[in-house]
Amino acid sequence: MRISVLTVSDRCSRGEAEDKSGPLISELMSPYGETARYMTVPDERARIEEALIELCDDVRSDLVLTTGGTGLAPRDVTPEATLAVIEKAVPGIPEAIRAESLKITPRAMLSRAVAGIRGQTLIVNLPGSPKAVKESLEVFLPVLEHAMETLSGKTLNCGKDVKP
Ligand code: MTE
Repeated sequence: MRISVLTVSDRCSRGEAEDKSGPLISELMSPYGETARYMTVPDERARIEEALIELCDDVRSDLVLTTGGTGLAPRDVTPEATLAVIEKAVPGIPEAIRAESLKITPRAMLSRAVAGIRGQTLIVNLPGSPKAVKESLEVFLPVLEHAMETLSGKTLNCGKDVKP
């Protein structure tokens, strides 16, 4: 699986803060595939959209995980940029992440993360903190294999129950 990581952060893109979440995603995802590309962009909608299109259409990632910019801050526009480039929404992924995360912190309701498909690529927004990244991936990873299987058209095991 070709996995790309997009960190969305003004401070990280300017080199004023170290990106801990992007490398953490690569580390947590390493058992599932290679990191095809890792990019950092500022919280600017056009830059995020451009990066997402490149990661889907040129890099041909199977999965793009974004981190950051999903909250309520004035410059948080990752969900809007994602919605602008996807062809189909996959609302169940962020719904499940928020539902499980709410058991850990009420602040989870402040993430406006979305997920969706562009071509053969699944894009999933994750919140910005390393803690939130880890907690969110723990929710999503049990369905990753089946998500990739169905996305590629090879739907073999839909009836097979998967324990969370
Ligand atoms: N989800 C989980 N699982 N754990 C967390 O600590 N933090 C929340 C939320 N989602 C959090 C979480 C907080 S504090 C915010 S403000 C929102 O994600 C948005 O984060 P972002 O703006 O960094 O994307």
